[in-house]
Amino acid sequence: MAIHIASRMDKMAPSGIRKVNEKALAMERAGRHVIHFEIGRPDFDTPEYIKKAAKERLDAGDVFYTSNFGTMELRQAIADKLRRENNIDCKPTEILVTAGLSEAVFAVLASLLDAGDEILVPDPVWMNYINVPRLLGAVPVTYELKEENEYQMDLAEIESKITDRTRAIVIVTPNNPTGGVLSERTLNGLAEIAIRHDLAVISDEVYERLIYVGEKHISIASLPGMKERTFTMNGMSKAYSMTGWRIGYVAASEEFIPVLNKFHQHNTTCAVSFAQAASAVALNEEGDEVKEMVKEYTRRRDYAVKAINEIPGLSCLKPKGAFYIFINCKKLGMKSADLAAYLLENAEIALVPGDVFGPGGEGYLRMSFANSYENIVEGCRRLREAVENLKK
Ligand SMILES: Cc1ncc(COP(=O)(O)O)c(C=O)c1O
Repeated sequence: MAIHIASRMDKMAPSGIRKVNEKALAMERAGRHVIHFEIGRPDFDTPEYIKKAAKERLDAGDVFYTSNFGTMELRQAIADKLRRENNIDCKPTEILVTAGLSEAVFAVLASLLDAGDEILVPDPVWMNYINVPRLLGAVPVTYELKEENEYQMDLAEIESKITDRTRAIVIVTPNNPTGGVLSERTLNGLAEIAIRHDLAVISDEVYERLIYVGEKHISIASLPGMKERTFTMNGMSKAYSMTGWRIGYVAASEEFIPVLNKFHQHNTTCAVSFAQAASAVALNEEGDEVKEMVKEYTRRRDYAVKAINEIPGLSCLKPKGAFYIFINCKKLGMKSADLAAYLLENAEIALVPGDVFGPGGEGYLRMSFANSYENIVEGCRRLREAVENLKK
């Protein structure tokens, strides 16, 4: 039987990251030793105090549907965290708990965008912000994040791209794939534009805790006049190394939460009960666990950035946040996809071609340093050797 595929599915490209990953895994099955720099997930185990809390709650029978909005216990813990760490004065009723931030992105975009509406999104960017609007029949209008601007957005460009169909502006800070962090100056300028044009801001802060010494994460919702128009998007995945637990959340105006919940109810009903319970413990009882992980990410980042900048033909900025290095390979004169394929096949290192994140990523490779220090040292050695061989 030829099963009909809805035409809207053509609007979503399959993940370019998974494509690299599948190839790397196939090589491994054939007995080759690939170093994985393509995956955007922390390589640490979830901290013990969080796992313990989940086990206890599971044993206590916390195995049923929760409120669609999320448990009051977790919503309260999130509200406390947002007040304490992000300077956002938030009530539990202004929070919706979702099955990972990915679900929150879908719920927010589906609730905001009609067909034909426009949404401003960064280029390059994590592709859900392109694919989900397209699936909804809306139009993602890109704005550039350039290396020469240290990946800050150009506010004049933003303003020039606003039309009467624009509904929202997406920011991702710290950023995947660039590792950039939006400065206070940029955020103040953006807030002024959003207020003047009466636009919503979708602020993806999932890498917020992975920020390096000397940098500061600012939540745009904490700026004057911004809370009512901002969707602050975050989750447990990256900070606490909990990607498989699928807990995310969105903080928005109290009136909007039931709108988002309509989507969420029909999508997943609720997030996993005992994962919600453990997430509340993660937020309320954190010790040095995240700090320790950031310390180790810093050690890896510093090594890799130095090593890459010593390879003739490659260069990179030092990422300010997240765990990605965006390697400029323009001087090698090859397309990113061809270079990534060459490196995987010949050096057995898996990197993501930058164009996977949008046209602005062409000429770059994304390297995730969520891998062991030893693998990073060996991976950089292989990278150097393979690039040198290109010139022979
Ligand atoms: C910018 C960004 N937002 C959201 C997510 C998804 O997070 P979650 O695991 O909570 O769905 C990712 C995952 O890579 C990401 O890079």
